[in-house]
Amino acid sequence: MTDPIHILPALDPLPIPAPVALFKFLHHLTLGLHFGALQLLLGGLVLATIWNIVGHASGSRSAIGASGTVAKKLTIVTTYVVNFGVPPLLFAQILYGQALYTSSVLIGAWWIAVVFLILIAYALLYRMTTLADAGRPWWHWGVVSFTLLALVGRVFSTNMTLMLTPEVWSTMYASNPSGTDLPPTDPTMWPRFAVMFLGAFSLGALGTSLWSHLSSVADDARVFLRRWSAISAIVFLPLLGAAGSWALDSQPESVRAALMGGTGATLAYAWVGSIALAFVAALALLATSRSRSALAPILGSVAGTTAIGLWTVLRDMVRDLTLAPKGLDVWATPVATNWVVVGIFLFSLVAGLVLLGWLVSVVARATPLEKNHV
Ligand code: HEM
Repeated sequence: MTDPIHILPALDPLPIPAPVALFKFLHHLTLGLHFGALQLLLGGLVLATIWNIVGHASGSRSAIGASGTVAKKLTIVTTYVVNFGVPPLLFAQILYGQALYTSSVLIGAWWIAVVFLILIAYALLYRMTTLADAGRPWWHWGVVSFTLLALVGRVFSTNMTLMLTPEVWSTMYASNPSGTDLPPTDPTMWPRFAVMFLGAFSLGALGTSLWSHLSSVADDARVFLRRWSAISAIVFLPLLGAAGSWALDSQPESVRAALMGGTGATLAYAWVGSIALAFVAALALLATSRSRSALAPILGSVAGTTAIGLWTVLRDMVRDLTLAPKGLDVWATPVATNWVVVGIFLFSLVAGLVLLGWLVSVVARATPLEKNHV
């Protein structure tokens, strides 16, 4: 293995144009939104697919109704996943370019394949919507779409792990320079993948329950959607907590020790607390599955969003703690702030987020097509 300090590419000679803390803040904000939308997409897709199988196998109208309600929202959610993914990728490249560009090139074929995998998975979501509108089964496309998205997630988790291990880069390149290999799995890779996907089936499921309140949802489908989103969250939240502890245990000794005290420990306990709150909300959702009150879905979604935000910060701490001894101390990056550019950027970011919020509210209030034709 090569000494990581000697293999890291030289720092870009241009200083970065805004303080590190500002880039970090923007990275966390946009990545948290990416993760939130991602968990809604993956969780919603799996639940809706299972409900579609059950519905068509048993003739249950409520299961088919609930599956269609969720499936028809997934194309919109995907636009948020992708658009909230781009900014943190740019911020991560600014801050960690020395590591992230290299790891991306080392798995280049897979990294580029992500674009095509997402395109196919996205197209299948439209196919599902068309079939759902026609009342026909679509679950087989749901299975394929989820499989492709899981592969995308695997490539992302691999890259975000490979960037933390410069010591394996030269061996990897020597054994295959064409970028078609995925590296041997690092012990930290599967735990972080597990947190993301178990989060989808628990926190994402709680978010899914919000759709039970759309005016277009029939009563029996609303009850079904609330009940089974709650059950999914109740089953998977303890597993999510276990995956978090696995992610901590899998870290190198120095990182684990640093996370056991100070801010790391506070954030980790807060993460556990937010999961416990989400669990309470899931129990409340199950107990009130016949109710029309949006309180439990909102409480669950707030707890879930908090958990996702805390996880986003924690995994960034892990990255800094891992890379600093290997020669990449992000806080030592030379900075020459250009405040005019920063000001224009912040203005357009806030305007963009307000616009997105407005778009979400328009979609939420939109009258379903079938009602327009009545
Ligand atoms: C739609 C399919 C997608 C899936 C299933 C997916 C999945 C994931 C997963 C599982 C991670 C977590 C990695 C980890 O913590 O180990 C991640 C991180 C990330 N994803 Fe996505 N992603 C998708 C699309 C995108 C797109 C289109 C972009 C941007 C162009 C993007 C940008 C990012 C970034 C920037 C990170 C984290 C970077 C960092 O650590 O700073 N993702 N994604």
